[in-house]
Amino acid sequence: MKKIETIGIIGGGQLGLMIAEQARLLGVRTVCLDPAEDAPAAAVCDEHIVGRFDDPEAVEELCRRSDTVTYEFENVPGDILVPLCGKYDIPQGYKPLYDSQDRLREKRNAREHGLRTPRFAAVDDEASLRAAVAEIGLPAVLKTRTLGYDGHGQAVLRSEADLAKAAPLLGVPCILEEFVPFDYEASIVMVADRERVVSFPIGRNIHREGILDLCIVPAEPDADVLDRMRAQSERFMRSCGYEGILAIEYFVRDGEIYFNEMAPRPHNSGHYTIEGSTTNQFRELVRYLVRQPLEEPRLVAPTVMKNILGQDLETAQRVAAEQIENVYVHLYGKSESRPKRKMGHITFVGMDAETYARDWAARFVE
Ligand SMILES: Nc1ncnc2c1ncn2[C@@H]1O[C@H](COP(=O)(O)OP(=O)(O)O)[C@@H](O)[C@H]1O
Ligand SMILES: [Mg+2]
Repeated sequence: MKKIETIGIIGGGQLGLMIAEQARLLGVRTVCLDPAEDAPAAAVCDEHIVGRFDDPEAVEELCRRSDTVTYEFENVPGDILVPLCGKYDIPQGYKPLYDSQDRLREKRNAREHGLRTPRFAAVDDEASLRAAVAEIGLPAVLKTRTLGYDGHGQAVLRSEADLAKAAPLLGVPCILEEFVPFDYEASIVMVADRERVVSFPIGRNIHREGILDLCIVPAEPDADVLDRMRAQSERFMRSCGYEGILAIEYFVRDGEIYFNEMAPRPHNSGHYTIEGSTTNQFRELVRYLVRQPLEEPRLVAPTVMKNILGQDLETAQRVAAEQIENVYVHLYGKSESRPKRKMGHITFVGMDAETYARDWAARFVE
C-alpha cells in the first residue's frame, strides 16, 4: 500500500486544528478544506483549500492533494462524499456520517444495534406533534432532525402551553424525545481499526445553555456503569461496522444508560485526552489514518476540562500567562470572539470536580 504522507481534513475548525497538531508530531502532513480564510486549522495545516463543503470540486481537490481523507465536520453531504469514497481513500466512509446526520435515523440505528434510547417519535407538523405528545407524554424535547448542534434547533416542552414554542421548529422534520431527568451526562470516544477498538476514559459532561461547559474524568467513582458503557459502546461500533473515530453521548439515570447522540469525529469532551490521557483522540485518529497500530489509552490522573467561550477568553489568556503546573490552556486562534463561541479550552490534570469548584469556578463567567 502507498505510504500515507498527507491527511486531508474536511473542515478547518478547532477539531481540524488539533488533528493537524497531532499529525505534525507524528511527521504527517495535513491539508484542510474550509470556506474561511482564517480557519483555525489553517494556521497549522501544511495547505488550506478555501472552499465550501458542499462544493464537489473543492472536496475533490482536497482528495487529490491527500493520501487519505477524514472529516471534522458532520454535515458533509452524502451526494458529494459517496462518489469520492469509491475513488479516493476515505477509510471511515460515508456510513457513520449518514447514520448520524438525522436524529431519527440515528436513534433507530442505535436501537437496532442494541442500545437503549429515550422513547421518540417522528414529528412533521402540528398533528403529528400532538400524536407524539400523547404517546410520549410531557416533559419532552423537540429537536430538528438535521443540522442541530450546541442545543440549537431544540425546545423542551413541559406543558400544553409550551406546544406553541414548537411552531418555529416545525418548518422542518423533527423528532420528539422523552425528557430524561438524568443523574448525569457522559460520553465516550473510541477509535477502531480492523484489529481493535480502543476507547478513552469516560467523562461526565456538564452543559450550560446547551453548550458543553465542563468535562470531568473519571465520570464517576463507581466503575460498574462505566464498564457497561464502555463494553456496549465498543460492541455497537463493531456491530455497525464503523472504523476510525466515534464519540457517543449518553444520559445516565439510576444506573441505566440511554444513548443520546453520536458523532464520527473527535469530540469536545475528548479534548482532555491531550494531556489527561497517555494518548489522545486526535493522535489515535491520525494513527488510524496512517495505518499505525492503535494504542490503548490510560488516564494520567483525574482531569477537568473547561471550555472557553468568548465571554471567558480574557480570563483564559490571563491563566495562560500565569503558567501554572498541570494547567494547559488551548486557544484556537479564532479571529472573532463572541459570547457562546468556542474559543479554546483549559485542561486541569490532577484535579477533581470539588477542587475545580473550590479553586477555579469563580474565575469564569457564571
Ligand atoms: N431527551 C432529553 N432529555 C433530557 N435532556 C436532553 C434530551 N435531549 C437533549 N437534552 C439536553 O440537551 C443537550 C443537547 O442535546 P443534544 O441532543 O446532545 O444536541 P446537540 O447536537 O445540540 O448536542 C444534551 O446534552 C442534554 O443536556
Ligand atoms: Mg450533544
